[in-house]
Amino acid sequence: MYYPEEIIEEVRRRNNIVDVVAGYVRLQKKGGSHWGLCPFHSERTPSFSVNGDKQIYHCFGCGAGGNVYTFLMNYENYSFPEAVRALAERAGVQLPEPEDAGQVRQRESRRARLLEINKEAAKFFYFQLRSPGGEIGYSYLKKRELTDETMRIFGLGYAVKNSSALIQYLRGKGFEDELLKEAGIASFSEKYGMTSLFWNRVMFPIQDSNNRVIGFGGRVMGEGEPKYLNSPETPVFDKRRNLYGLNYARRARSANMILCEGYMDVIAMHQAGFTQAVASLGTAFTPEQAALLGRYTDSVLLAYDSDGAGVKAALRAVGILREAGISGKVINMRPYKDPDEFMKSLGKEAFEERISQAENSFFFELQVLEGQFDMNDPEQKTKFHRELARKLCGFSEEMERENYIQAVAQKYGMGTGSLRKLVEKYAAQTGLAKPVERARTGVQKKKEPGARRAQGTLLTWISDEPGLYGKIKKYISAQDFTEEPYHTVAERMFRDLEEGHLDPGGIVGMFEDQEEQREAAAIFHTRLPRLESGQEKEKAFHDILMGVKKNSYEHHVARMGTDVNALNEAIQGRKALEELARTHISLD
Ligand code: UTP
Ligand code: MN
Repeated sequence: MYYPEEIIEEVRRRNNIVDVVAGYVRLQKKGGSHWGLCPFHSERTPSFSVNGDKQIYHCFGCGAGGNVYTFLMNYENYSFPEAVRALAERAGVQLPEPEDAGQVRQRESRRARLLEINKEAAKFFYFQLRSPGGEIGYSYLKKRELTDETMRIFGLGYAVKNSSALIQYLRGKGFEDELLKEAGIASFSEKYGMTSLFWNRVMFPIQDSNNRVIGFGGRVMGEGEPKYLNSPETPVFDKRRNLYGLNYARRARSANMILCEGYMDVIAMHQAGFTQAVASLGTAFTPEQAALLGRYTDSVLLAYDSDGAGVKAALRAVGILREAGISGKVINMRPYKDPDEFMKSLGKEAFEERISQAENSFFFELQVLEGQFDMNDPEQKTKFHRELARKLCGFSEEMERENYIQAVAQKYGMGTGSLRKLVEKYAAQTGLAKPVERARTGVQKKKEPGARRAQGTLLTWISDEPGLYGKIKKYISAQDFTEEPYHTVAERMFRDLEEGHLDPGGIVGMFEDQEEQREAAAIFHTRLPRLESGQEKEKAFHDILMGVKKNSYEHHVARMGTDVNALNEAIQGRKALEELARTHISLD
């Protein structure tokens, strides 16, 4: 039995937890909370607290905690739907008939309807491509060397020239015009009435990782602007949080993922057997997409276009991956423009070879740098070598630096000795980055027992003083919270704070597991140590922040395993750590 998410939220919001609990427990207001004797264990002095601002409860004696639903489920032994019904009745909220799993799918909720429209439209395009009217689209795709099997797997289709055909079809299926507009499928004008957004294009349905069609990209056949037309963002189409091809790539069982720029690249790669290929959705690669990839792999290979724009985009993507704790390497596609063309010309084995030669981001950055100098001009060449030496100063550990000096010298045909001298000269001028203790590669460092506590405490501190978030967000992100439920809480809490509100009751409600609910509620109830001076407080806060950051850095370094090429990523993390160590964060 299911109730829609929105209703569950509404019922929760309309039942003040203080009033509900007061129906069972005698509460007394003290400070910001209400206190009483805990109903979940026996006690003589009150350690059970209910917080109206945060809409949660917590017992400092037995650790019980949660939101208003958790309370009723524990006190009355209700199931979740029973708790929803009891509270809906209490608040006078009209509940819809509960649905079973089968009915949920047909639910007339907006999102579900929008997904249905997308699915129907995809079916329509798919059918058109394979009918006489779609001949032109079919032969275009054939010319691009796609097999029937590939077209089927990716559900490719064709939008006919007649821009009202799709509208007629969808109306016939019972969808209102309003919904067609909201799905980004059609628009209305006085002059033409309802017209389809896509006409005379080959269609690429975009699926989420659960194979649901959430939008479309449509390509002109031949020249024309825009080359690709994409569905606008809709309630079901979030371009920042989805990746083209991920529904297949996540099942590829490959050690890595390959990130491309375009739909056609992904399709060509899959056709050649590289089913771990994905692409962003007509927009730049985002941190959200990096986090999504992070669920499946810690190593991403970039197969971006070889042109200037592609290289720039690759450099940015490498940075975003690094932030997410993912090691990024760049595949060289030259002399071809993109994976699609490469595959057509040189084929699968040659690409396999390029994968094995993919460069870590340090060498990729050097390669881009090299392009800015004319190597035939001795003066320019010298300048380039100086830049190399400067970049090598970034490696503060001697052995690591020496390894890189040798590799770079060999790669760029310089004497190792003279490069080393140059590096030492710059190091003497500017100093090396101070070494931070690093987990030895391959050896998983034992988790510090304090790491969990530090993460919980930091979240408590931020929830207590939300203004702190603005001061530290430069140094810390949800990625730094390596432990559950803290990671999930941090993600939601930081997003809430970005939007300027914080809703602990809602955050606690995200967890199904009672133990996690309890831990999440504890974040908002833990009392921070009372420290007298502002200075003491600042020091304590700084220590906790450093603790979280240091653990995160070590966690991510350890995950890089024996991959020596990932050293550069580690250095970035170290830099952030060093900057934080030097920074004074005022709590005023
Ligand atoms: P490209 O221009 O590199 O296209 O755009 P492509 O993948 O090589 O396509 P083909 O091989 O010419 O068919 C890469 C991606 O950028 C987005 C699309 O997602 C495309 O796959 N894009 C490009 C647009 O959204 N709109 C455009 O007009 C062009
Ligand atoms: Mn292409």
